[in-house]
Amino acid sequence: MASLPRVAAFVAARAGRELSTLTTSTASESETAPADKNFLPGPVLLLGAPGVGKGTQAKALMADYGIPQISTGDILRANISSGTPLGKMAKVLVDQGTLVSDDLVNQMVAERLKQPDTTRGFILDGFPRTLNQATWLDAELVAAASALPVIAISIVVDYGQLLRRITGRWISPAGRIYNTYTNPPAIPGICDIDGSQLIQRPDDSEVVFTERMKTFETQTAPVVEHYRNQHRFDEINGDRTVEEVTAAIEVALKRLRASES
Ligand code: AP5
Ligand code: MG
Repeated sequence: MASLPRVAAFVAARAGRELSTLTTSTASESETAPADKNFLPGPVLLLGAPGVGKGTQAKALMADYGIPQISTGDILRANISSGTPLGKMAKVLVDQGTLVSDDLVNQMVAERLKQPDTTRGFILDGFPRTLNQATWLDAELVAAASALPVIAISIVVDYGQLLRRITGRWISPAGRIYNTYTNPPAIPGICDIDGSQLIQRPDDSEVVFTERMKTFETQTAPVVEHYRNQHRFDEINGDRTVEEVTAAIEVALKRLRASES
């Protein structure tokens, strides 16, 4: 069962976010404006190293704009836990912190993008991760005559913080994300919202994190440069509160879309 104090705290924090976005005066006015629910961000890519907050931010954007999060990591983990042929193939790679083949992942994304909830836009979380995936996606979106070109947001957090975030992370079966240090559940090991048992991902050990960081530096950092060079791109400091990072992303999305017209 949900813990009421925790739910109340969540509601208060959310309300506090709305208030603080109106009253903070240290950043620019636009950086603190509440999300404009009528704004359509279109296709958005969230890029960044393991633990920068892609999943956390994708969920916040999904709530604010009503467009779906597509996390290739989540799709792979769902396949692994239900023991599909794809999951069996992916498990060893995910567990050791290396990448699943481009063809498999591109096919997964192609299937997901066919679903009607993506027509107003979507948030790709953790895809593309190689230059091959990026060029495939670029071509796919052109072929689909997507109404809006993709915007890429790269979130940046330093190595020490990332390690702390990864080793402190707990998730619920429904995908809610907690952290021992920064966002603990009211009762250790129990989801505040549905009372389910929280788990740690098998790839969230320090050893596998080191491998995932190497994979990021060698294979995904060039993807960040690919989108930086396309100019519909912004880099966001992720070492702030979740709410501040969301606000900064939302400001960037509006600015980048406005610069297209
Ligand atoms: P994936 O699941 O995508 O993992 P990842 O990229 O390593 O990223 P994470 O999910 O670990 O971190 P996140 O950035 O989402 O952070 P989160 O919001 O949870 O991929 C896993 C594996 O699948 C890959 O290694 C690969 O094998 C395979 N795979 C996936 N996509 C693939 C692809 N395209 N191609 C090939 N293979 C692929 O936050 C982390 C923690 O920090 C949480 O505890 C959270 O509460 C906390 N936190 C978040 N924001 C803040 C903040 N602002 N302040 C303090 N704490 C915060
Ligand atoms: Mg994630």
